[in-house]
Amino acid sequence: MIGSTTRKSSSRSEVWAGRHSVHSMSAPEEKARRVFSEKFGGDPEIAVFSPGRVNLIGEHTDYNAGYVLPMALPLITVIVGSRRDDEKICLVTTAEGADEPHKVEFVAPSRDSPLVPGTPKWANYPKGVIQHYRAGPVPGFNAVIATSVPLGGGLSSSASLEVATYTFLQQLCPDDGDVVQKALTCQKAEHTFPGVPCGIMDQFISVMGREGYALLIDCRSLEATPFPLTDPELSVLITNSNVRHELTGSEYPTRRKQCEETARALNKEALRDASMEELEAKKENLSEVCYKRARHVITEIERTAKAAHALKKGDYKLFGKLMVESHNSLRDDYEVSCPELDELVTIALEVPGVYGSRMTGGGFGGCTVTLLETSASEQAKQRIQEKFQGTPTFYVTKPSAGCGVL
Ligand code: GLA
Repeated sequence: MIGSTTRKSSSRSEVWAGRHSVHSMSAPEEKARRVFSEKFGGDPEIAVFSPGRVNLIGEHTDYNAGYVLPMALPLITVIVGSRRDDEKICLVTTAEGADEPHKVEFVAPSRDSPLVPGTPKWANYPKGVIQHYRAGPVPGFNAVIATSVPLGGGLSSSASLEVATYTFLQQLCPDDGDVVQKALTCQKAEHTFPGVPCGIMDQFISVMGREGYALLIDCRSLEATPFPLTDPELSVLITNSNVRHELTGSEYPTRRKQCEETARALNKEALRDASMEELEAKKENLSEVCYKRARHVITEIERTAKAAHALKKGDYKLFGKLMVESHNSLRDDYEVSCPELDELVTIALEVPGVYGSRMTGGGFGGCTVTLLETSASEQAKQRIQEKFQGTPTFYVTKPSAGCGVL
């Protein structure tokens, strides 16, 4: 069941072949520096970035303690800024699509007056991180945010803003440098400020991303294994449907609850611990919906582990087949796809040289990810442009590094 649809006006067709070269500044950095000097005068003392991500396979498995296989993107959120002499924090966003006002000012949190969520919505992400930062008290500062990660496009614009904020705070008042705690703190910020009960995948990959590698993340132990994605004959094409269905916000927590309820009914800590045999044995005691949700999660965790090994062996055909199975399971059992994403996958799969294609991220709009021969990318884009009913945006990307200082 799909709610109302928002089609963004964008008709761009953009291609990122990789992160900006060593000598040239990325567009968001340039913009953030320019706006900083306009609003606050002078040059910022600090400049940091954090990437968005695309998940190759392992969807809706992270909050079930399962596996995910994302890679960090060359699409980044940049924050530049400087310390102030008082305790005020002033944040300006230049992000397209952020709600008004684009400038907020508040007093740095203290034990007696913590920050609380509010409006504008975009400010809840940095505010949540500032509130939960592990090495406070945070001093006053001015900062400007700029991003090339499309907002709400399923490429993890939220986590990239949270992790960029944390990385910025580390330059102002350093913490102990624990990278796992950093990701967990950003996740906590998202749970408590914007109020989205997300898993750990997005924050983790934005912190730990590695150039040339996708990471197989075990969301229970929080261990990550790098899998190389450097074959020049293999490409990852992201297609943004530029569609976002309104139900995204309410459906995600509902899915999470259904999974937790089913794990309890199976007497397991998490669905990661259940096998298909155990699920089948208890089928009569479960609602049809819970049975289907669990079937997706259990089979998806298995597919993700298999896909990582297929990648290691260079078996792209098998990887692609698992991607398609993942999409079908998300569409039929988890019910988080939508007609636009299904259409994009169907069109991509018609193109010779495409190994596999699936929706990526939370669902109900946003992007698909397609694994294909590099020589097939132009044809795939062209075919999608011609046949897709909407206005797609393309990103041909390479796995990029996690957050850092510019
Ligand atoms: C969103 C969440 C992630 C993950 C995905 C689905 O991106 O933030 O934690 O659950 O959906 O795989």
